[in-house]
Amino acid sequence: MPSELRRAGVLGTGSYTPSRVLTNFDLEKMVDTSDEWIRTRTGIVERRIADADTATSDLALPAAQAALEQAALDVSDLDLIMVATVTPDTIFPCTAAILQQRLGANAAAFDILVGCTGFVYGLAVAREMIASGAYDHILVIGAETLSKIANWEDRRTCVLFGDAAGAAVVGPVPEGRGILSYSLGNDGTNADALKLPAGGSRLPATQETVANRLHYLAMNGPEVFKFAVRVMVDSSEEVVRRAGVTMNDVDLVVPHQANLRIIDAAAKRLNIPYERFLQNLDRYGNTSAASIPLALDQAVREGRVSSGDLILLSSFGAGMSWGSLILRW
Ligand code: ACO
Repeated sequence: MPSELRRAGVLGTGSYTPSRVLTNFDLEKMVDTSDEWIRTRTGIVERRIADADTATSDLALPAAQAALEQAALDVSDLDLIMVATVTPDTIFPCTAAILQQRLGANAAAFDILVGCTGFVYGLAVAREMIASGAYDHILVIGAETLSKIANWEDRRTCVLFGDAAGAAVVGPVPEGRGILSYSLGNDGTNADALKLPAGGSRLPATQETVANRLHYLAMNGPEVFKFAVRVMVDSSEEVVRRAGVTMNDVDLVVPHQANLRIIDAAAKRLNIPYERFLQNLDRYGNTSAASIPLALDQAVREGRVSSGDLILLSSFGAGMSWGSLILRW
């Protein structure tokens, strides 16, 4: 073990989205909704949908390989694989275990079940395991096939979600770089506002749970909305303070891509110019744990991230959980 804690940062990113596009106009033919309603209430125009025979690990695998390639690392360099997802291939074995085998890695593997916040949780865990000297290279993935748990008969939810995967390889970086601070939390008071009611030990699968459509995502949208703005603002302020920087120093914000109005409200309250917020939800919708690594990878590959930039990640999700994190690129 080193005598001083090491710094940990992102060495490479990757992402992958299915090719099939589902537009708001397509949805108009499926449920009682309109392109105009979805656009004005959420900012979403289209989303990607995985084929029937595609599982979450199928999206995660190419994202992970792209991240390793960008980091110029071999799969044999990985010590640990974490997959943040609410749509695992199977409850067990976990999706990280499936990926360990499919990547051909010799690494520990586990899933993170914290809804949309899972990727930020994963980065925070990776940072501490690298800082302690326990591990050198950790693959953190956010991957979802939300189309598999979306209730395609419920217009209040099905219009919001899409499928995607994003990945980051985390490893040691020089002093002053990498993950500077993070803030994670959970408030279970309104946990019922966002859940998959059946299929766990509380309500195992029966003919009745299937008939009552309890194996699909259920959400109280307005409740989640209010919570989201509050925790994104509070936790962003906290990580900035902990990192010893100011909101003004932040070059790029990668918010969870759930709703443009949530991002708008957070930008106003944080007093950060809107142009510094990454936004790709018009094309991908809400991809839960995949949303931040997907947006981050696209920004990196489009040249929107420069060495030395201060990047703020901020998310919220089921639990109800939240997580913000600041890193110096
Ligand atoms: N098309 C047309 N009308 C609709 C639709 C739709 N797709 N969905 C809802 N409506 C109707 C409602 O039925 C309601 O009609 P009513 O007044 O006649 O009953 C009206 O529109 C307003 O509904 P609200 O739910 O109050 O609409 P709101 O403006 O709050 O927008 C939304 C709903 C978009 C869901 C918003 O609340 C939101 O974005 N919440 C946050 C969701 C979120 O971030 N979830 C993240 C979790 S994802 C995860 O963890 C996997």
